Amino acid sequence: MSDELLRQVQRHGSPRPVHIAVIMDGNGRWARGRALPRPFGHKAGMSAVREAVEGALAAEVEVLTLFAFSQENWQRPAEEIGALMELLQEYILKEMAELVEQGVRVRFLGDLDRLAPSSRDAVDRLMKATESGGKLALNICISYGARAELTRAARLLAEEVAAGRMHPSEVDEDAIARRLYTAQFPDPDLLIRTSGELRISNFLLWQLAYAELYVTPVLWPDFTRRHLWEAILEYQRRDRRFGKVTV
Ligand code: FPP
Repeated sequence: MSDELLRQVQRHGSPRPVHIAVIMDGNGRWARGRALPRPFGHKAGMSAVREAVEGALAAEVEVLTLFAFSQENWQRPAEEIGALMELLQEYILKEMAELVEQGVRVRFLGDLDRLAPSSRDAVDRLMKATESGGKLALNICISYGARAELTRAARLLAEEVAAGRMHPSEVDEDAIARRLYTAQFPDPDLLIRTSGELRISNFLLWQLAYAELYVTPVLWPDFTRRHLWEAILEYQRRDRRFGKVTV
């Protein structure tokens, strides 16, 4: 795809982010602005997911982690939860062949045991079907909360210590990171949040320690691959210090 923005990303002297995380926000406001029920915003948000995936592939990003449904979202009205779960199944059905063809490996991260059996089956099918994808790792966080993820890691470690398989002195940062859902991935370099909100919202609290933050006022359903490339370009202009000094 020839696009000036993409060319700028490719020609920039600084490295691109290897891992981008995204808080996809603003579906409800997008729908309200058009006097439509909220699920219409989520439906439009599904097309933006495709844009983000294709934009990431074009820019050769290795890992894209999307926050699709939080543990707190289980408290939304049953009707909205139902619509979101239906959309998830629709996404899986519609996109599976293309994701396989594009070399995208999809993983769902979160407390998947809370999903209804039909959603769980669909999620498992997509993970299995895309298993050999090597171009982009697409992580879709559903029923996900960072505090719950860290609590789970602490519990797993406690169990190993209690069983005598581990000594308390071996509980270090690495041991914790290896028990998170994201164990096999590097930490996100860049976090994008749409809709202008300045919050982390219990997303990847451990993994985002040194991520660059990029907030755009664009509502998620309006997000395109070009918005992704703009964020990447902004990232490339930043000076990452990881707490150190660079001169
Ligand atoms: C936040 O907007 C978005 C969500 C809670 C759901 C995200 C879902 C999608 C983008 C579509 C489906 C995705 C996949 C991967 C199939 P909000 O409802 O909180 O918006 P608001 O803050 O404007 O009310």
